[in-house]
Amino acid sequence: MDALIPAAGRGARLDRPDTPKPLVEVDGVPLIVRTLRQLQAAGVSRAVIVTGHGADRMAAGLRAVPDLHLTLELVHNPDWALGLAGSIRAAASYLPGPFVLAMGDHIYDAPLIARMVEAPVEPDGLVALVDLQPERVFDQDDAVNVELEDGRPVRFQRHGPGQGIDAGLFLATPALFDALAGCAGDELADGVDALARAGRVRALACSGSAWDDVDTPASLVHAELRLREARRRAQVPAGPPPLKSDFVFQTGKIAETEVVVRRGVVASPEGAGLVPPQSASSPVFVFTDETVNRLYGERFVAQLQAVGYRVHAIVLPDGEESKTVANFAHVVERVLARGIDERSVLISLGGGVVCNVCGFVASTLYRGVDLVHVPTTLMAQADAAISHKQAVNGARGKNMVGAYYAPRRIVVDVDVLQTQSDRALRDGLAEVIKHALAQDADLAAWLADQDPGRLRDPAFLETVVRRTIELKCRTMAVDPQEHREGMVLQYGHTVGHPVEHLSGYSLTHGEAVGLGMRVAVRVARLLGACDDATVAAHDALVARYGLPMHIPADVRTVDILEALVWNKKYLTEGTRMALVDRVGNLWNVNGNFAIPVPDALIARAVDACRGGEDGDVDERGDHGRGQRNRSGMHGLLRGDRRADLRDGQTPGAPGEAPR
Ligand SMILES: NC(=O)c1ccc[n+]([C@@H]2O[C@H](COP(=O)([O-])OP(=O)(O)OC[C@H]3O[C@@H](n4cnc5c(N)ncnc54)[C@H](O)[C@@H]3O)[C@@H](O)[C@H]2O)c1
Repeated sequence: MDALIPAAGRGARLDRPDTPKPLVEVDGVPLIVRTLRQLQAAGVSRAVIVTGHGADRMAAGLRAVPDLHLTLELVHNPDWALGLAGSIRAAASYLPGPFVLAMGDHIYDAPLIARMVEAPVEPDGLVALVDLQPERVFDQDDAVNVELEDGRPVRFQRHGPGQGIDAGLFLATPALFDALAGCAGDELADGVDALARAGRVRALACSGSAWDDVDTPASLVHAELRLREARRRAQVPAGPPPLKSDFVFQTGKIAETEVVVRRGVVASPEGAGLVPPQSASSPVFVFTDETVNRLYGERFVAQLQAVGYRVHAIVLPDGEESKTVANFAHVVERVLARGIDERSVLISLGGGVVCNVCGFVASTLYRGVDLVHVPTTLMAQADAAISHKQAVNGARGKNMVGAYYAPRRIVVDVDVLQTQSDRALRDGLAEVIKHALAQDADLAAWLADQDPGRLRDPAFLETVVRRTIELKCRTMAVDPQEHREGMVLQYGHTVGHPVEHLSGYSLTHGEAVGLGMRVAVRVARLLGACDDATVAAHDALVARYGLPMHIPADVRTVDILEALVWNKKYLTEGTRMALVDRVGNLWNVNGNFAIPVPDALIARAVDACRGGEDGDVDERGDHGRGQRNRSGMHGLLRGDRRADLRDGQTPGAPGEAPR
């Protein structure tokens, strides 16, 4: 049996100008190679491939596949751009008998190809694969509808009525070439329609979309998700259904966390509602670190003691070394040794490390005691504290051991940020920029308009903190565990985390996330999800606030790829990333916000973020007033949005944030 694969297309809608569409990879395999392997396995011994755009690359790409033993004949169609019908006709003299016709940009489940190869076909007839569940076909915009009478196709029309959809797989005879020659149009469907009207087409039915037409960035992701899911299902063959449960119980109440943003509360914490009335006589613990203790902690504890609370200070060494499982166990015993009761309150006063350690301890002591966060870094005020995620690090990566646990109250005072260094403030601002780029175009526009010299202006800080908390609360309310819209919190972190780790922590978390966002937007661009302006907007904002622009040379791409497995969103089936399709909007495909991404694409995006590529931006971004980057950003921002944020307020009209 022979096969014909028209593989001439450029894939304009897929937006991969550098790759002939049939060579685009899904689940690590070029589209055409997957189909050729399946044809070979089904007994096809010779395949005629019609090339057009990128013919040389197609030939080279096929030569590089060692396990293809069927005879391949490449036929070049110089007029490929005129349409599919012409490319099929170009192969007429090579195919004297019946042949399987498979589209070069489709993915079929292997059994469909095997069934088609074995299907009986009438002389001068044609068998067409028809999907009888059109509602399950992804992206039906461009589909060819099939009208059936008594199970037999009678019409193939792009915009006509139909009970099925043409799935792009046929068992054809040379009669198809004659039918195409007699048609005025350039579409394969015209020839198939002519044969159907003459009663010469039979349907091979499939249902449940066991095939994909990879035509757009979204359909590519859809196909990738489907193939990964198929691999997952194949991993453990389905056995009998699991044992039925004998009893069930349900528990749980809505976890509510109040957030107060008020300047001056760290200096005068008595009235901030840190300890609820029912805990007035219970031991209270203030977790802090050495630096924060010196700056604010001693006075903070003394103020609370002065009004009568029984307060103990737990002072941790500064930094990540306190965020270990060993230190967690040590601290738990320290608290227990001082004595707690079930109404005890644990208050974190410090940066993200103190928040995380205190939060995890609170979630475990007595299986959960009251927790209050008083974050003192911009990183913690904009991100770490505004969360139910409490964790310590594992030996192989950050935040590997932890729990989701709700603080009762979070009290935010931007006054304490004045004692942070500029670098530390920029570090925290990276998480603000993350929310802007992935969730809030208005905030992105506002940030692009601000003088970066305002970094430690309290009004500026209160604006960004309030806005980011508002965005984060919105996200937490719908998806606290970050499976859907909550993926916004992961933006820039897939590559950011490994880069931070591999830099030996010479890059801060926020600096690495800034780089991770530059990588993520390039991945989205390579997938065709966003445009160049979105990439430029990322670069402009990262540079504007003085975050590093280039991945350090000693952080190797291969090591970054290897480290991807230590990410929470990694599945053994492959990496998944949060991506945007425009500034302020996470990309989702059919409700999937965790977009499967091949490592090869991540590698390309990483390499595009190394020094040299953006030669005109210095290593730590634009420290000046950023005129050059400003113009890049303004190119995509709507002027009417820029004034939406005002200092010191929740932005937008009172009571309503601009969407
Ligand atoms: N749970 C989450 O959702 C989440 C989110 C983001 C970050 N994090 C975690 O947070 C940690 C990073 O937080 P961080 O950046 O706040 O680091 P950090 O807690 O280590 O604080 C950095 C340094 O700043 C000092 N410091 C704190 N407040 C200060 C102040 N007001 N003035 C001067 N110095 C001050 C601290 O003593 C410390 O030396 C990481 O462990 C990260 O994994 C967690």
